[in-house]
Amino acid sequence: MAIVYLNGEFLPADKAQVSVFDRGYLLGDGVYEVIPVYAGNAFLLDRHLQRLQNSLDGVRMTNPFSNETWTNIINKLIAHNNGGDQSLYLQVTRGVAPRDHLFPADTAPSVYMMSNPLQPVAESWKIEGIKAITTADIRWMRCDIKAITLLANSMMKQLAHDAGAQEALLVRDGFLTEGSASNAYAVIDGVIFTAPKDEKVLPGITRDLVIELAAKADMPLHERAISVSALRGADEIWISSSTKEVVPVTLLDGEIVGTGKPGAIWQQMDTLFQQYKQEVA
Ligand SMILES: Cc1ncc(COP(=O)(O)O)c(C=O)c1O
Repeated sequence: MAIVYLNGEFLPADKAQVSVFDRGYLLGDGVYEVIPVYAGNAFLLDRHLQRLQNSLDGVRMTNPFSNETWTNIINKLIAHNNGGDQSLYLQVTRGVAPRDHLFPADTAPSVYMMSNPLQPVAESWKIEGIKAITTADIRWMRCDIKAITLLANSMMKQLAHDAGAQEALLVRDGFLTEGSASNAYAVIDGVIFTAPKDEKVLPGITRDLVIELAAKADMPLHERAISVSALRGADEIWISSSTKEVVPVTLLDGEIVGTGKPGAIWQQMDTLFQQYKQEVA
């Protein structure tokens, strides 16, 4: 039985209980992080904790812990679940209060963390690439906050699944924002494009790393919005996330992307990414 952390306690998952008045349960009032763990080490933890702080600030919640305390609890949870490669999920909700839209005055936040085995990225995804669809981005205008309220993301991911695809690429006002659970990129004439950081996209930790790795390797990259028509003509399309890393998309809405195989620029980025992971982990 996996061990989870809930409000100060480490306990078997089936013993963890939260109140039905928790605002996370009733209102989706909370924020979260997903952190990959390689060989027992939380990858880019400082960056995840900084984004957590930004999300908490964005919804006017006080951070319940210092970074030192977070690190401590996270490392204990990793150890309780036997180290190795894990996918660590943590969430902070505004806590237990009578149901009301207004924020309660002095409610202690609820903190929950769990760990699941990190599923390795399927080899076929790297050899063949994945299928994606485009769909209207039906989310709110604070997608920069990593809110637990993921109904829109679930609906869009389900559309992709229904179409036999692995990811939905989201379109707002004719431009690609990101994926339903990933950031998105297009490579056009040797230049990598990804939407700029604003309230329409999640500032992905993997996205930041991709940008840094590209800069170090002199690979041209622009943080610039990509129109759907440019996307359809792109030589390569990729997505990225903490648990999926950088994945090539080779079929978009049933049309072949580029050569129909993962592209050379993705290959270069994946190599840099794997090298970085090895060095850090
Ligand atoms: C909507 C969305 N965008 C982007 C990402 C990628 O972010 P990260 O690289 O920090 O995992 C995620 C990750 O789950 C996501 O849900």
